[in-house]
Amino acid sequence: MSFRIAQITDTHLSPARPLFDGNFAPLAEALRDARPELVIHTGDLSLNGADSDEDLRHGAAMMRSLGLDWVAVPGNHDVGDDLTLPSKQPVSVERFARWENCVSPLGFFRDVPGWRIIGLDTQGFAANEGHRERIAAAIRGAGPRRIALFQHKPITEEALADTAVNYWPLLPAPRAELLAMFGGRRPDVIASGHVHQWRDREADGIRQIWAPAVAFIVGDAFHVPVGHKLLGWIEHEFHEDGRHEAHLHAMENLTPYDLGEIPEAYGPLTRAA
Ligand SMILES: [Fe+2]
Ligand SMILES: [Fe+2]
Repeated sequence: MSFRIAQITDTHLSPARPLFDGNFAPLAEALRDARPELVIHTGDLSLNGADSDEDLRHGAAMMRSLGLDWVAVPGNHDVGDDLTLPSKQPVSVERFARWENCVSPLGFFRDVPGWRIIGLDTQGFAANEGHRERIAAAIRGAGPRRIALFQHKPITEEALADTAVNYWPLLPAPRAELLAMFGGRRPDVIASGHVHQWRDREADGIRQIWAPAVAFIVGDAFHVPVGHKLLGWIEHEFHEDGRHEAHLHAMENLTPYDLGEIPEAYGPLTRAA
């Protein structure tokens, strides 16, 4: 017996500036054909939900249009970024409330046979004590179930002991707080978005899966390749006996926009060194 989840991420949708919306319809068709039991969106649902109710409401409407059970966690373009980072859109109580009013709670948990599936907000993890307490309770309450985390930013770029503070991974302090919630155990699976690259590896005893984006890739001139730059989604199968499988669904019928060539989205990008 297994439970099938489709993970989609980084759709960057907007009704006023639908730069990437064209990729959603083919994705929706693929998901309806696949008929997963749950769809999880791991953030950057919207182009600029951090400042726009309309972008968030539109993203939620697109998710409802799938006709499938779905949940979501926010990304940096939905609720802003960690207060430690030099962001023009820092997380705030107002931004959390906007997401909750327009889309869904910031996190969730679902029990399926053998597993507890937990969604958390990496963006506000450090600043939002109430959210941290709810996630800690979900982890404590998992009992003998294995735990899979779904979140926007990856837990790390390389190793849990990394000390780098930058735009890409969950930062060292909130990473340490999250891992401490597990006591003597570790999350079994961490599935994330944000990097717009696909990567699937086991490191530090954790299966770490970076889902490919739906909206765009970031060309090598602007972002070094760590994983693979392609568009698509991930099909997760959680088995009652504790096994987990992840299958990449690369979608060649999505338009491979390169954010470096589309400055009207977020301004000109800095070239990679
Ligand atoms: Fe993104
Ligand atoms: Fe992101």
